[in-house]
Amino acid sequence: MSGANTQYDPVEVSALDPAAIDEVVEAAEAAFAAAGTLDALKDARIAHVGDRSALALANREIGALPPSAKADAGKRVGAARARVGRALAARQAELEAERDARLLVEETVDVTVSGSRRPVGARHPVELTAERIADIFVGLGWEIAEGPELESEWFNFDALNLGPDHPARQMQDTFFVDPPDGGLVLRTHTSPVQVRSLLERELPLYIACPGKVFRTDELDATHTPVFHQVEGLAVDEGLTMAHLRGTLDRFVSELFGEGITTRLRPSYFPFTEPSAELDFRCFVCRGADSSCRTCGGTGWIEWGGCGMVNRNVLTACGVDPDRYTGFAFGMGIERAVMLRNGVADMHDIIEGDVRFSAQFGMEI
Ligand code: DAH
Repeated sequence: MSGANTQYDPVEVSALDPAAIDEVVEAAEAAFAAAGTLDALKDARIAHVGDRSALALANREIGALPPSAKADAGKRVGAARARVGRALAARQAELEAERDARLLVEETVDVTVSGSRRPVGARHPVELTAERIADIFVGLGWEIAEGPELESEWFNFDALNLGPDHPARQMQDTFFVDPPDGGLVLRTHTSPVQVRSLLERELPLYIACPGKVFRTDELDATHTPVFHQVEGLAVDEGLTMAHLRGTLDRFVSELFGEGITTRLRPSYFPFTEPSAELDFRCFVCRGADSSCRTCGGTGWIEWGGCGMVNRNVLTACGVDPDRYTGFAFGMGIERAVMLRNGVADMHDIIEGDVRFSAQFGMEI
């Protein structure tokens, strides 16, 4: 920058020469127009408007002019700066609009494109039904009990009044666990949980136990060596078969439909006396269709066993049978699933194919 002077005309200062200023302006406009990107425009801005640009230099030169010349030179430079500023702003706006338009295209989400589906699996209907059953009993104020699948013979048989000669202990039904004299079996029913609960819990007692059981059955359309049962046990003062019946009526109507009732037929189980087979009203024909495929036209569907807890079982568990009475029941969960959902073949239930399970909905 030159020092203050009073002698020469401002046009003689080369930076303030009108032609030079025009050139600077045109060069800036050309550079802005040539900038194809916002980054390039930024470089052009620094070169043509920045502190070291010819325009900035000219601006600084004004300060060194005699007062008489300042106004004129100031006007010229100011006009030039304004023109360059407008050109810059216009190009900036243009390039930003271009960028925004490009981003809009690049970042477009095509909502019509079919998504990539990730199968999330499905819960097994046996599991869902077991939970539903547990919910029903919890709703009645009962507790849910559990026991081990690997069970001692004493719990699985002896304490349930199944003596050593009982046919259920024979090899064709029971999976005995090595060593043969170790006294361990894979539980053949959920009834040992009755005994465990009586030994572990306080009276009165109302428990339901859904769980896995094992028998040496061949897998076929209606049998599987691993299946599920739900056991129920109530022990209290003054319980009668009427309580058993009322509980079962409530249970089946919750599970199979309002108005579905039960029927008890005399039977025998070592751990109940008296004992009964449990049937419930066909939920398809309700006894009104002699050709109904669900109940075979009988109007009733066989489901499980039940009865009043045998005194011997109460005694084996240290419960006074003269003060307390109890009722118990046990039924298969696979059978409930097959009936409720029209599953004709047990293979579908045990194969674990998600396409099968997914049909039962994704309820959690
Ligand atoms: N445990 C029996 C079975 O597996 C079913 C059963 C019958 C359970 C009568 C009971 C009952 O609790 O009282 O076949």
